[in-house]
Amino acid sequence: MRKLKYHFFSTFYIYLYNACLAPSQPIPAFILKALKKIHPEVTAKYYGCGLVVPECLEGCRLLDLGSGSGRDCYMLSQLVGEKGHVTGIDMTEDQLEVARKYVDHHTQEFGYEKPNVDFVQGYIEALKEAGLKENSFDIIISNCVVNLSPDKRKVLSDAYRVLKDGGELYFSDVYSSSKLSDEIKNHKVLWGECLGGALWWEDLVRLAQEVGFSPPRLVTANVVTVDNMELEAVLGDYKFVSATYRLFKIPKISNKGSLVIYNGNITGFEESLEFDSQYTFKVDEVVEVDGEVASILSHSRFAEEFTFQPPGLPAGCSVKKPKVCTNTRTIAPNVS
Ligand SMILES: C[S@@+](CC[C@H](N)C(=O)[O-])C[C@H]1O[C@@H](n2cnc3c(N)ncnc32)[C@H](O)[C@@H]1O
Repeated sequence: MRKLKYHFFSTFYIYLYNACLAPSQPIPAFILKALKKIHPEVTAKYYGCGLVVPECLEGCRLLDLGSGSGRDCYMLSQLVGEKGHVTGIDMTEDQLEVARKYVDHHTQEFGYEKPNVDFVQGYIEALKEAGLKENSFDIIISNCVVNLSPDKRKVLSDAYRVLKDGGELYFSDVYSSSKLSDEIKNHKVLWGECLGGALWWEDLVRLAQEVGFSPPRLVTANVVTVDNMELEAVLGDYKFVSATYRLFKIPKISNKGSLVIYNGNITGFEESLEFDSQYTFKVDEVVEVDGEVASILSHSRFAEEFTFQPPGLPAGCSVKKPKVCTNTRTIAPNVS
């Protein structure tokens, strides 16, 4: 168990223990390398609750909701490359000031001719008002911010609006085991510590689909345990996880499954691609996917990374059935 200091805006320090539900993964070398190039002041002000690094980023336009001091933006700036672009949006000027202070530093550090990162002041519930255009981003990420929003439906619907068709919202946040009571929601310390605003994970699944997204697919989930007797008493039986989900903006989901073969061309994932808690695609292996995943893969940036075949193979070919973990499922973060 790892002891983490988890301090956001309150004057309290809460010590949380994180017990990994999903198999713990070492951080890939190419991400560690990117993190090492980030200015220490930016890194010191990082508050996120997960590693938010979707795959297949080269040349993409990314938006980070609640970018804080910009650590994730600067990491992703390296992964999208000079032809890609990362925009961070945050409501807090102090955070933006730190992020903006190091734009030139990182442009030089990454060897780029001009910056591929910018930071916008605004609210994640009001992306239009912040000047972000419809259908303009390939991927939206967010790291421990949506729980702080009083209007999560608006966050999701605005994210859907600014994503291009085939785009993805890939984000990490804190979720609760059931709907939180008003006492918890209105508890200043719990709100500041990202627990009071946590969505019940089933509400995420419902809201996401109501605004048009594909059903959320769980990537990882880590249990969050509060080691503070006073707060534990207020929280009672509620449980929390820090989880990463991926939601896609795709046309209607087909009910036809498919056989897919991963080509191994995504940087950093040359051997295999761990898509979510259910599917890992090894290069050149034929995998049977359900209609939902077939629709996601064939209508998103992943379309070029796979070969698709209708179900039913010539005799002699073997098909891999999806991995189903005992402690992770497609949607439920095992928090109930
Ligand atoms: C917990 S910090 C996470 C910052 C960053 N993602 C990270 O991982 O370091 C939350 C950030 O979200 C911003 N934030 C919270 N609610 C927001 C909202 N409704 N609109 C824009 N930014 C918001 C805060 O200003 C803060 O910088």
